[in-house]
Amino acid sequence: MSPQIDLTTRIELSAAHLPQADPCILVIFGASGDLTRRKLLPALFHLACEGCMAGPFQIVGIGRQPMTDDAFRDHLREGVAHSAEIRRFDEDEWRGFAPRITYLSGDFADPDTHAQLAALLDTLPDAGNRLYYLATAPSAAPAIIHGLAGAGLNREDKGWSRIVIEKPFGRDLASAQALNTTVAEAFTERQVYRIDHYLGKETVQNILFFRFGNALFEPVWNRNHVSHVEITAAEPLGVGHRAGYYEESGALRDMVANHLMQLLALTAMEAPVAFDADAVRDKKIEVWRSIRPMTPEEVAVRTVRAQYHAGIVDNVPVPGWRDEANVPVDSRSETYAALEFRIDNWRWAGVPFYLRTGKRLARQVTEIAVHFHHPPLSLFPHEEAVKSNVIALRIQPDEGISLAFGAKQPGTARRAVPVSMDFCYRNAFGDNPPSAYAALLLDAMRGDATLFTRRDGVEAQWRLITPIEEAWAAQTDHALPGYVAGTDGPAEADALLARNGHRWRPIAGNLGACNV
Ligand code: BG6
Repeated sequence: MSPQIDLTTRIELSAAHLPQADPCILVIFGASGDLTRRKLLPALFHLACEGCMAGPFQIVGIGRQPMTDDAFRDHLREGVAHSAEIRRFDEDEWRGFAPRITYLSGDFADPDTHAQLAALLDTLPDAGNRLYYLATAPSAAPAIIHGLAGAGLNREDKGWSRIVIEKPFGRDLASAQALNTTVAEAFTERQVYRIDHYLGKETVQNILFFRFGNALFEPVWNRNHVSHVEITAAEPLGVGHRAGYYEESGALRDMVANHLMQLLALTAMEAPVAFDADAVRDKKIEVWRSIRPMTPEEVAVRTVRAQYHAGIVDNVPVPGWRDEANVPVDSRSETYAALEFRIDNWRWAGVPFYLRTGKRLARQVTEIAVHFHHPPLSLFPHEEAVKSNVIALRIQPDEGISLAFGAKQPGTARRAVPVSMDFCYRNAFGDNPPSAYAALLLDAMRGDATLFTRRDGVEAQWRLITPIEEAWAAQTDHALPGYVAGTDGPAEADALLARNGHRWRPIAGNLGACNV
């Protein structure tokens, strides 16, 4: 099954009224960094080219490095022109876009920088709306927030004033609470947009449309029909030049504490009363609150962490984690994490939710696989070959949704074989979905916080992750398990599921909805 959209519907979709950003000035702290060049500017340029920023719009970049406006624009142009997020770089469009960009150099902790920013903002065409984006190291956030408040830039005298804060939002419950308190001293919660770029991914947003926009799936989306759920975010890549950050963070903080927790909540949440920021976020938080934080004893049996050893990824030999540049030879940071959560509510009691993520795995796969119970009786020979029905929501790559079920093999033998119905985004909607950052920046400029994390949400996530980090930190006598780079992960993770009679879906042979 590969649903196609007819040409007329396609044209109607593309001609549909485009959402418009409010006219505003976007101020990016950490403007000379990688995130600005690789993600934020390509997303903004894409939005401008699409016609979503028709009103007055300015970008002010702030960084420590002294640079002229022109040098800054050239630096950004390189990133935008070579960005995978831009389908076709148009030099004329860029020439129209670049003059909207200004650069200011300064120390974020110096009140003078913020006074200079206030003075600069007064000289720009301005509708009174300001969006501050913290694309900086987390340690810089408190100084920036205090600086903005000191210069009165948090006030909403002439228009709105909002702040977007990048992950990691703290490194445990206490630091997240402290950062929330600092933010709340300068901004009301309504002004704060904590970004998790996974929520901007088209296929992640589609989880709610799939579940609550169709009548077919929701009746079976519970413990009566679901045996277990797997959430996987596997990457073949290493950490590149981010070894310093990753050594401090590890896979649990880097991916599970935010992205995977969001996927878990979207999969498990109850239907919201409306598709608005508070209704959706309330329901997600209920999921996190329904999970009991693990005791150290539970951490020992329900979590696995590991580091990759030297191996071969995409036919290229790669070193082990401890042999990577800037990684201590006795590093105890995990490059792989797997765990089993139990959601103690009526819908999910008794259904294991398995989460796993890792670097240097066999291939890139981000998906949610919902496994259903076996039929109560086995009537057909070889039925076990079919295993159970699985709905796989493929986030990336090969975005789509597939349903695995059993069918009779043609011929005289009454034999069941596994087959699959597949919906592939690319076939149905043409181009690959737009970038997550474009969707989220547009929402922030329109004042829609549905896809951003609320204060209590961040704290609820850390309430579950912090006990695991603490128990791991206390296990100093254990050597970390290992896995060979380019494989599906450590044997310990297989054992985690085997205890319950389950098995991970393969990463290496996992073909996704568009290739089966
Ligand atoms: C980031 C993590 O938040 O997400 C990275 O810090 C990870 O380590 C990345 O590689 C994955 O994002 P995506 O969109 O490529 O799946």
